[in-house]
Parts: sequence; structure tokens; C-alpha cells
Amino acid sequence: MKAMPWRMAILLVLCCAAVVLGARMVLGGWTVPSFWATPPLEQPIAFNHRKHAAGADGIKCETCHSYSSATTGTFAGLPQVDTCMDCHKMVMRMTPVKLAKKPGLAKLRQFVAAGYIPWEQVYAEPDYVFFPHRRHIAVAKLACAECHGDVRNMTEPVLRPVVNQSMNWCMNCHQQKRASVDCIACHK
Ligand code: HEC
Ligand code: HEC
Ligand code: HEC
Ligand code: HEC
Ligand code: HEC
Repeated sequence: MKAMPWRMAILLVLCCAAVVLGARMVLGGWTVPSFWATPPLEQPIAFNHRKHAAGADGIKCETCHSYSSATTGTFAGLPQVDTCMDCHKMVMRMTPVKLAKKPGLAKLRQFVAAGYIPWEQVYAEPDYVFFPHRRHIAVAKLACAECHGDVRNMTEPVLRPVVNQSMNWCMNCHQQKRASVDCIACHK
């Protein structure tokens, strides 16, 4: 007998999961969607998007959220110390008095020593979902705000999703814009 192609195997597992989930919803009643139940996170630095990215001379989103791979562009990525230090080298020379007035920059300085900023990732699909940022931004020309809300004008760090990025949400847009709705496009 020929071995089952791996894509079919994954699909079969997904279909079973859908049946189990459906049964759970019917038998157990509708539970609170995880999107609403997610407790707000804490971010290590009170990062202010508006101070960085708003206005005509604001820093481009891509300066800090660069795509880790030019071909697939799956991750937008959260910026690390070296990106911040392109502009904030000054923090190393700030006096304690000045640092006390800028707690965010004081924190940044601590993380320079540690070499790593432990940001919490807010938008994250499960491992079995394939989401290429590049296809949506460079090819489909969608604005970041369409999928993440008005981050540009946020004065607080992103603590919870503003947009519920469920499968239905992906599907609705794909149907409207005639993009692929094949299971294997998103479930490789
Ligand atoms: C391209 C340049 C640039 C990069 C990259 C950059 N910043 Fe800034 N940052 C600025 C400028 C300009 C200001 C001053 C804005 C103001 O105060 O209006 C600022 C201000 C700040 C402040 C003080 C603002 C406040 O809340 O009072 C913090 C904290 C800060 N940045 C953190 C970071 C962190 C963390 C990173 C890396 C993830 C980073 N910045 C990357 C240009 C940059
Ligand atoms: C079509 C919808 C869509 C658009 C447009 C979009 N994103 Fe995303 N973004 C997502 C999804 C879905 C995730 C979760 C991806 C995952 O976990 O695989 C995500 C995750 C992220 C993350 C978390 C880290 C990561 O890499 O997963 C950052 C940062 C981010 N997006 C920034 C941006 C920026 C900046 C833009 C515009 C240049 C943008 N996004 C445009 C849907 C979108
Ligand atoms: C100066 C650097 C910088 C710029 C410019 C910037 N961001 Fe961010 N972004 C960050 C940092 C740092 C975080 C993590 C802290 C937070 O949540 O605010 C973040 C978090 C995010 C997240 C949440 C990602 C996740 O899943 O955790 C989204 C979405 C995002 N940014 C979108 C944008 C968009 C859209 C723009 C352009 C309008 C933009 N960013 C410009 C530094 C930047
Ligand atoms: C606001 C609209 C929109 C949303 C939301 C959206 N997409 Fe897309 N997506 C598109 C468009 C338009 C394309 C076609 C781009 C192109 O022409 O290559 C696309 C293409 C793709 C592709 C490439 C398909 C192929 O033909 O190989 C994948 C994979 C994908 N999207 C996954 C997702 C996932 C996963 C989500 C949800 C987490 C999502 N998309 C949400 C608009 C959207
Ligand atoms: C445009 C992208 C896209 C397409 C096409 C797609 N899915 Fe999904 N699917 C997702 C995303 C995103 C999630 C994760 C949603 C979440 O965590 O809320 C998901 C989750 C699932 C789950 C797990 C549900 C759960 O909540 O545990 C199953 C099962 C599933 N998909 C089956 C399928 C099947 C079968 C098809 C084909 C008919 C399909 N998917 C087509 C994006 C897609």
C-alpha cells in the first residue's frame, strides 16, 4: 500500500480536530472565545508607538519590524537591543538624574547589559498555521492597521490583540479578495 501523503495526513488530523471541537461546542455550549479570555500581558518596557511612528516623519514600521526571511517573510519580528541602539546610543551616556526622568530609557539601558529584551508576542497563530506577512504586505498591499488596528497611534505597549485573528477572519477576507481558501494554503 502506498503511504498516505503527509499533507493528507495533516488534513485528516485537522478534520478530526474540527469534529471534536464542533461536538464540544454543541455538547458543552458556547464557551468564552479565548480572544476575550486572554489576560492582558505585561511588556518589559512601556514602549510608545505614537512617539516613534506617528506623523509624516514617523519611523516606518518596517524599520523595527523587519521580515526575518526575504523569501517567505513569515515573521514580522519584535525589535531587539541593536535596533533600538541605532537611535538610542545616548542612553549609555545619560546621567542617573536624566535616566530617572525617562524610566523607559532606563529600562532600555538595563536590557542593553542583558543583551536581550524579553517582549511578549501578542499576535501568534498556532504552529499548524502558515502565515506569510510578505504576501499580505508586499503582494496584496494590505495596511498593517487592517490586521492589527491603529498601532501607529498607540501610546501604551500592545498588551492584547485588537483584532481577533481567527480562521473565520482569514477566510472572510480570502473569500472577498479571491485569495486561496484551500486548507493546505494555511495548513501546510
Ligand atoms: C529610528 C530611531 C529610533 C529607533 C530605532 C528607536 N527609537 Fe526610541 N525614540 C526615538 C526618538 C526620536 C524618540 C523621542 C520621541 C519623543 O520623545 O517624542 C524616542 C523615544 C523613546 C523613549 C522615550 C519615550 C517616552 O516614552 O518618554 C523610549 C523609552 C524609547 N524610545 C524606547 C525605544 C526602544 C525600546 C526601541 C527599540 C525597540 C527604540 N526606542 C527604537 C527614536 C528611535
Ligand atoms: C493580513 C493581515 C496582516 C497584515 C496586513 C499584517 N499583519 Fe502582522 N500579523 C498578522 C498575523 C496573522 C500574525 C500572527 C502570525 C503568526 O503567529 O504566525 C501577525 C504577527 C505580527 C507581529 C508579531 C511578531 C511576528 O512576527 O509574528 C508583528 C510585530 C506584526 N505582525 C507586525 C506587522 C506590521 C508592522 C505590519 C505592516 C507592515 C503587519 N504586521 C501587517 C497579520 C497581519
Ligand atoms: C521604533 C520601533 C518601532 C516602530 C517604528 C514600530 N514598532 Fe511596533 N513594536 C515595537 C516594539 C518594541 C513592540 C513590542 C512592545 C509593544 O507591544 O509595544 C512592538 C509591537 C508591535 C505589535 C504587536 C506585536 C505582537 O504580536 O506582540 C504590532 C502589531 C506592531 N508593533 C505594529 C507596528 C506598526 C503597524 C507600526 C507602524 C505604524 C509599528 N509597529 C512601528 C517597535 C516598533
Ligand atoms: C484583509 C485580508 C486578508 C486577511 C485578513 C488574511 N489574508 Fe491571507 N491573503 C490575502 C490576499 C489578498 C492574499 C493573496 C496575495 C497574493 O496575491 O499572493 C493572501 C494570501 C495568503 C496566503 C498565500 C496563499 C497562496 O496562494 O499560497 C496565505 C498562506 C495566507 N494568505 C494566509 C492567511 C492566514 C493564515 C490568515 C489569517 C491568520 C490570512 N491569510 C488573513 C488577504 C488576507
Ligand atoms: C486562510 C487561512 C486558512 C484556511 C484556508 C484554512 N484555515 Fe483552518 N485555521 C486557520 C487559522 C488561522 C486557525 C487558527 C485559528 C485560531 O487559533 O483561532 C485555523 C484552525 C483550524 C483548526 C483548529 C480549530 C481549533 O480551534 O482548534 C482546524 C481543525 C482547521 N483550521 C481546519 C481547516 C480545514 C479543514 C480547512 C479547509 C476547509 C481550513 N482549516 C482552511 C486558517 C485557515
